[in-house]
Amino acid sequence: MKKISLDRILQSQGFGSRRYCRELVQAGEVTVAGQVVEQWQAGFEPHGMHFTVFGEEWQFREHVYLALNKPAGFECSRKPSHHPGVMTLLPEQFGWRDVQAVGRLDHDTTGMLLLSDDGPFIHSMTSPRHHVPKVYLATTASPVTAQLIEQLLHGVQLHDEPAPLRAVTCREVGECQIEIILEQGKYHQVRRMLAAAGNHCTELQRTAIGGLSLEALGLEEGQWCYLEAGQLELLKA
Ligand code: URA
Repeated sequence: MKKISLDRILQSQGFGSRRYCRELVQAGEVTVAGQVVEQWQAGFEPHGMHFTVFGEEWQFREHVYLALNKPAGFECSRKPSHHPGVMTLLPEQFGWRDVQAVGRLDHDTTGMLLLSDDGPFIHSMTSPRHHVPKVYLATTASPVTAQLIEQLLHGVQLHDEPAPLRAVTCREVGECQIEIILEQGKYHQVRRMLAAAGNHCTELQRTAIGGLSLEALGLEEGQWCYLEAGQLELLKA
């Protein structure tokens, strides 16, 4: 693979402008494979490269794929208006390299949120044509009934949708808790479907996307991790 100068590599990883990255290197704040490198022109093969900046370890990644266990009270939009944005929960380097949420969760919804700077990946995960199943655990104000489940499976009409929306599957998991699997990602979809079926959602958590669950990732609320190739494969399952 072609060698790339250290300042360009650092910039691509979200450490700031080329000029700032050069300053970082010249100030002796960057090591590569355990050695301080003070020449920003020094070339490295980025693939698989390990480096530190201000003593913090990093690995070169052409793109980043992250899972965050989103707490309540954070907005997924790129320009949050009423609550802090989810990007404030991540290292600032990710903002600089244009990492963004893959789809949205409401500010008061918790659970699995994917983030990436890979446009085609974001598109493939959010496009309605790809039918990626998302698993939600909803707490309801009134008890879950067989009739509620029947309505969600059969399809409920939301006022701005051309056709009824249905859950792929759903099951009661507690007196006032229901697991719902959806393939679409319409605005407030779970909350609106529950309302249209005569109940009310008081809490909502996304517990899995495709075959990858929050439980398997072992993330506490507010924690994030990189997703590696095998985990990305599971998202399609
Ligand atoms: N459905 C909702 O109603 N809200 C979410 O955040 C996600 C799915």
